[in-house]
Amino acid sequence: MAYRVLKRTFALDDEYVEDLKADLIDAKRLAVDEDGKVMVWTGGTTVVSSQLSVARSSQPPASQTSDSGLRTPDAKPQTLDARLEGERRQLTVMFCDLVDSTVLSTHLDPEELREVVRAYQETCTGVIRRYDGHIAQHLGDGLLVYFGYPAAHEDDAQRAVRAGLEIIASLQTRGLSTLSVHPLQVRIGIHTGLVVIGEIGSSEKREILALGETPNLAARIQGQAAPDEVLISAATYHLVEGLFACEDRGRPELKGISTPLTLYRVVKEGEAQNRFQVVARKGLTPLVGREHEYGLLRERWERVKDGAGQVVLLSGEPGIGKSRLVEALKDTVMHEGAPCLELRCSPYAQNSALYPVIGHVQHMLHFQADETPDNKLEKLQHTLSRSRFPQADTLPLLAALLSLPHPAACPPLSLSPQRQKEKTYEAIVAWLCEEARQQAVTYAWEDLHWADPSTLELLTRFLAQVPTTRLLVVLTFRPEFTPPWGVHSYVSQLTLPRFSLE
Ligand SMILES: Nc1ncnc2c1ncn2[C@@H]1O[C@H](COP(=O)(O)OP(=O)(O)OP(=O)(O)O)[C@@H](O)[C@H]1O
Ligand SMILES: [Mg+2]
Repeated sequence: MAYRVLKRTFALDDEYVEDLKADLIDAKRLAVDEDGKVMVWTGGTTVVSSQLSVARSSQPPASQTSDSGLRTPDAKPQTLDARLEGERRQLTVMFCDLVDSTVLSTHLDPEELREVVRAYQETCTGVIRRYDGHIAQHLGDGLLVYFGYPAAHEDDAQRAVRAGLEIIASLQTRGLSTLSVHPLQVRIGIHTGLVVIGEIGSSEKREILALGETPNLAARIQGQAAPDEVLISAATYHLVEGLFACEDRGRPELKGISTPLTLYRVVKEGEAQNRFQVVARKGLTPLVGREHEYGLLRERWERVKDGAGQVVLLSGEPGIGKSRLVEALKDTVMHEGAPCLELRCSPYAQNSALYPVIGHVQHMLHFQADETPDNKLEKLQHTLSRSRFPQADTLPLLAALLSLPHPAACPPLSLSPQRQKEKTYEAIVAWLCEEARQQAVTYAWEDLHWADPSTLELLTRFLAQVPTTRLLVVLTFRPEFTPPWGVHSYVSQLTLPRFSLE
């Protein structure tokens, strides 16, 4: 193998390559040098793993990380070929560490300490798993987490930041502080960059290696974070810009890092829920092409205004322009003074029953994050009192759905879980249809490929009501989703093709 390839594949510096040559060629006599350019392997099929396990340049500097997933101290020997098959890819790496864990250990008895650490790790693991992150290594009380390996997503940076914020919030609300003298806090550092990653080890123990500067930088950034802070590099920031409110933290000196890096503290989630909304806020470029599709949507909207409810299924690959088309329809509809309501499924809530529906109801009720549950209940009660759909049990059912206290004036619900679910669906469908009582309305249900089963069940019931209402319901989804609804005269199917180059 050429030294240049070796250096690039494992992000080795010149000095380390020299050490490697000295060890493998001169000391162990497992390889020979050719023209100073190529190392030819002569030592059979195995190589001692520590030889190539980690580029010295990628070794995290803090003592706590010396044993991280970047190193494989106890990895068994394996083939050189397997090592060199390392895959080059972009990865978002998160380091999360417990603040003052030594102080904690002096204030708690070992039993309590074990309980606290276990609860802390459970909290982190739960959150990370939900965002499909991979815990590469437990580093004492710290965690080394990969977003983008083994499973890659289009939004790994976003997932990492969301996970970071949620770990902090979950630790604060889980009440772990009641057990310990100090409230449990963490520091979180995140960076996105290229790594070489690959699985190594024997059948008994397999480990994942991320080689390169990226994990090293993430560790350094974490070291700069204050307690309960998510600190991200400029590279990660550019991938999540607009989705989170961030504060520029300048370019602090990071030990061992020669190029200064701008860091950002993530303050909170932003208003935009996805990249499309970020772009939309900056101003959309005019709609290009799609005359046929846009024409069909407009024509269906005209039918709806004449009293014939319509459903349009809008499918297509990621980024093909589904949301852009919905936005164009929204412009038209809102220009006419008609409401355009939105329900969005989320890749992070596919296992959270009725997530998009609950989000929509909360939005309709103008709930604020810092509002008390009693206030929210009052808003719900007030809104329902103005509606005309049948309301037996509606208030307590929707209060339960929104995790609000049971209304004092209502008798307790004495329904079986199945019956309660049925009646909740009925109440929501009635409410959604109620919106179209006075005028024609458009509903866009976006990204159904991420819908949870309960949402689809409710949607099916809602769609059955559409023909007799003044509703235009547009459903968007990617090709992996197969609509479970049969063919009906009021349902149209549109698949967005790619633009041809002609
Ligand atoms: N016909 C178009 N005219 C102008 N801009 C477009 C058009 N189609 C797509 N775009 C732009 O391309 C980007 C991606 O489009 P969009 O978000 O609508 O895709 P999508 O099909 O909804 O993808 P996803 O499945 O990821 O939600 C957006 O910035 C959008 O404004
Ligand atoms: Mg979209």
